[in-house]
Amino acid sequence: MQHKILIAGAGKGIGLELVKQMLATGNNIVMAVSRDISQLRILEEKVNINSGSVSLIPVALDFSKHDFTSVLDKVIRKYDFKPDIVIYNVGLLVNKPFAAFSHSDFDQMFDTNIKGAFRLFQFLLPHLAEGSHLLGITSMGAYQGSAKFPGLSLYSASKAALAVLMECLAEELKDRGIRANALALGAVQTEMLTQAFPGYKAPLSADEMAAFIADFAVKGSLFFNGKILPVSVSTP
Ligand SMILES: NC(=O)c1ccc[n+]([C@@H]2O[C@H](COP(=O)([O-])OP(=O)(O)OC[C@H]3O[C@@H](n4cnc5c(N)ncnc54)[C@H](OP(=O)(O)O)[C@@H]3O)[C@@H](O)[C@H]2O)c1
Repeated sequence: MQHKILIAGAGKGIGLELVKQMLATGNNIVMAVSRDISQLRILEEKVNINSGSVSLIPVALDFSKHDFTSVLDKVIRKYDFKPDIVIYNVGLLVNKPFAAFSHSDFDQMFDTNIKGAFRLFQFLLPHLAEGSHLLGITSMGAYQGSAKFPGLSLYSASKAALAVLMECLAEELKDRGIRANALALGAVQTEMLTQAFPGYKAPLSADEMAAFIADFAVKGSLFFNGKILPVSVSTP
């Protein structure tokens, strides 16, 4: 079955691996959105030449900016792209003691991690068909009762907001047959983790986690709706 998948936060790390996994299975069409799309452009050349059609649509935009929907609107219309899977994988982590956070740190993290998701899902509502699956990528730090780490208070709070937004969307969209879930990830070896925890060795690579997320995005909505699921073999 062909899926049209919109991946927000697809330029590197888990998101970029997710794009590759989604393109490797079947004849999916992926709209991959990030600020820096240089690696997506390289992938695009290979993928679209191999398939002889447009399988990958890279889009450069910043989800923390309020006007990103006008850019997205143009691309969606151009390709008549009505996604049935939407993954909000965008993440910004600023690691600081609580006392040291500025209002600007707060705004940057909340604009990126939750306000962008709010704007994206609200914008996409008219374009979503019955059976669509909306997925928020959140963190074990945002999972109730998990071990907490110094320096991640605002990041974890913003990710908790995303997790609960997904729960609420599941309720509000159930009459349209649209499902929504959140995955609370444990540690994955990416640039974000290296910056937050220098020297820490995560048990999973970005492509391993992306393989799980890709499978869940396609099949998970058969079994789960409105759930916040921990995906972790360790903390952080
Ligand atoms: N790695 C972990 O251990 C871990 C653990 C728990 C949860 N997570 C979550 O998993 C997701 C992927 O994380 P990762 O480790 O792969 O981190 P990453 O390598 O930093 O990836 C973050 C992604 O978000 C994009 N992004 C960030 N700000 C953006 C903005 N304003 N507009 C558009 N795109 C933006 C980045 O691309 P550009 O910079 O090119 O825009 C990148 O594609 C994040 O949501 C993260 O919070 C990660």
